[in-house]
Amino acid sequence: MNAKGRQQPSNHGLGTKAVHAGQPVDAATGAVTLPIHLSTTFAHHPLGTTRGYEYSRSGNPTRAALEASLAELECARYGIAFSSGLAAITAVAMLAPEGSHVVLEKDVYGGTWRLFSEVFSRYGITITTVDMRNPGDLAAAITKSTSIIWLESPTNPLLHVIDLASVSRIGRAAHALVCVDNTFATPVGQNPLQSGADIVVHSTTKFLGGHSDVVGGAILTNRPDLAERLHFLQNATGAVPSPFDCWLLLRGIKTLELRILRQSSTAEKIAAFLVDHPAVSAVHYPTKELRTAAGGALRLGGGVVSFEVANRSTAEALLNHLELFTLAESLGAVESLAEHPASMTHASIPEKTRRTNGITDGLIRLSVGIEDPDDLISDLEQALEHARSATGQPSHAVH
Ligand SMILES: Cc1ncc(COP(=O)(O)O)c(C=O)c1O
Repeated sequence: MNAKGRQQPSNHGLGTKAVHAGQPVDAATGAVTLPIHLSTTFAHHPLGTTRGYEYSRSGNPTRAALEASLAELECARYGIAFSSGLAAITAVAMLAPEGSHVVLEKDVYGGTWRLFSEVFSRYGITITTVDMRNPGDLAAAITKSTSIIWLESPTNPLLHVIDLASVSRIGRAAHALVCVDNTFATPVGQNPLQSGADIVVHSTTKFLGGHSDVVGGAILTNRPDLAERLHFLQNATGAVPSPFDCWLLLRGIKTLELRILRQSSTAEKIAAFLVDHPAVSAVHYPTKELRTAAGGALRLGGGVVSFEVANRSTAEALLNHLELFTLAESLGAVESLAEHPASMTHASIPEKTRRTNGITDGLIRLSVGIEDPDDLISDLEQALEHARSATGQPSHAVH
């Protein structure tokens, strides 16, 4: 690896990469944990000679280690780290030529929609949203000026699974960049570059950090031309993560695979419990059947489950009575969270669009942590019962 983050691919498994990639034993001291390089500037000596670093916005050894680790996890040659997921998304959006067109998956993170529709629209960028489960709809939305196809899979918050290889084929034929926000799936769940995507983005704030204590973002790609431009944008726009944030991420990443396997298996159990609950009208979860139907790139269901109850007041009563699940935005950490997309994460989407997209007032999104699965299910059971009595719905109790 050099200071620009170019990776030599390794054949190690993901659990091994998570512990070792970018994080060798420190050559100077033998320290097993990577040092945090707080220095903002680096010596030139003699004049005209550096050791790969000059100034920490342009490059920093702790950030380079994170970038190498993330690149390995996503089977990418280049990793570029940012101060937040949205800063990473902004850098990708800056690749779209002025006046060009972007196709967005209908069910993306509200902040992504807001960025394209309320910020980049000022530079003449137009957007069309489509349900990318139907490749025909995507193909029909593409125009001569389409520069980017942007998707998440599983989608947010409805957890639809999209066939990444089909979308990538359509993107390639249209000479449009295919960008996959892989925050929900994580590299444990899928590696979109291997399905033909050009760019992968992460909000590392979520599963990669995993402990609700760091905000960050990253871009991964195999294309040297894109990596060069994105490195330029990273330095020119300056939204870089601090060395301490990079170190926190590197520490979180070491347990990534263990956490995701546990979170995904608990989420599956929770989804099965909710499917059988009479107060729940719909459960959204990437089951094996859905994953296979979408081409099989997604290897596991992941740690997020969404479900619907009758209406907003039932959702509110339920959320207010959860004890182990904290009512909070965000996802992917060791502690379980619950949130109400219509009034929280997706509130920036106009109400009419939100409803058309299926984000009902009774929709609840759970981020499943690493607690005991039975405790989490009991917590949901008692909160559903409270919601039932608070909103006067008939009891479903079978006991
Ligand atoms: C899928 C997805 N992508 C991107 C983001 C934005 O990331 P950040 O909050 O780190 O800026 C979020 C935030 O919730 C998200 O859920």
